[in-house]
Amino acid sequence: MKLICANFKMNLLKDDIHNYLNTIKGKINNKNVIFFPSIPFIEEFAKNNYLVGSQNISFKDFGSITGDTSVLQLKELGITYTIIGHSERRTFFNDSNYIAKKIKLGLDNDLKIVLCIGENLEEFEKEKTLEVLKRELDEALQDNLDIINENNLIIAYEPIWAIGTNKIPTNSCLDNTISKIKGYLKTKYNLNLKVLYGGSVNLDNIEELETIKVIDGYLVGGASLDALKFLSLINKVN
Ligand code: PGA
Repeated sequence: MKLICANFKMNLLKDDIHNYLNTIKGKINNKNVIFFPSIPFIEEFAKNNYLVGSQNISFKDFGSITGDTSVLQLKELGITYTIIGHSERRTFFNDSNYIAKKIKLGLDNDLKIVLCIGENLEEFEKEKTLEVLKRELDEALQDNLDIINENNLIIAYEPIWAIGTNKIPTNSCLDNTISKIKGYLKTKYNLNLKVLYGGSVNLDNIEELETIKVIDGYLVGGASLDALKFLSLINKVN
């Protein structure tokens, strides 16, 4: 079954979350959906028995890091997953420097990791996509090979130029890039990891995306914020 991750980013308030939970109640059966709300709402999703993850974890377990949240604190709220390396974290918080450390900390604490990788528009236009993806995979995996396996690490391929822009790569481009990611992971690291697609996934393009067989699921941002539309979207995913 495909995996669908709902990344709320820094959106929605308390009332919105309550309405959201009321709307989806009893309607997400037989689907592999994980919610990634803002930290204040994680517990609410966990209490209602949804799979829930954090959008990030700190690179340390405890200490003097003002404004960060420890993986141990997040686990107390009920997370079993975390996203690591989202492009917005890489851009605003230099997260590229902490990816390997965060993966280790997450895995040491029994979380499943959704690792985001992706090229920017300039890299895409200069045909540097694979070079970027391989580098990001190497940075994430090399120090953690002894603890990574096919059940605890999921890759999310998110071209940065496709996030929130309503543009997505062509089918053949996506098929080719995701196949190459899988091939690289298999050849270099002997890993068969699931690869999700993220970037402007919505109700208008989900049926088309579903025809691309190498995609193992989706990381959905904007289109996960409206509960009814999100329910329609997940119902189109096999
Ligand atoms: P989007 O975001 O679906 O709004 O493009 C995806 C993401 O950044 O995870």
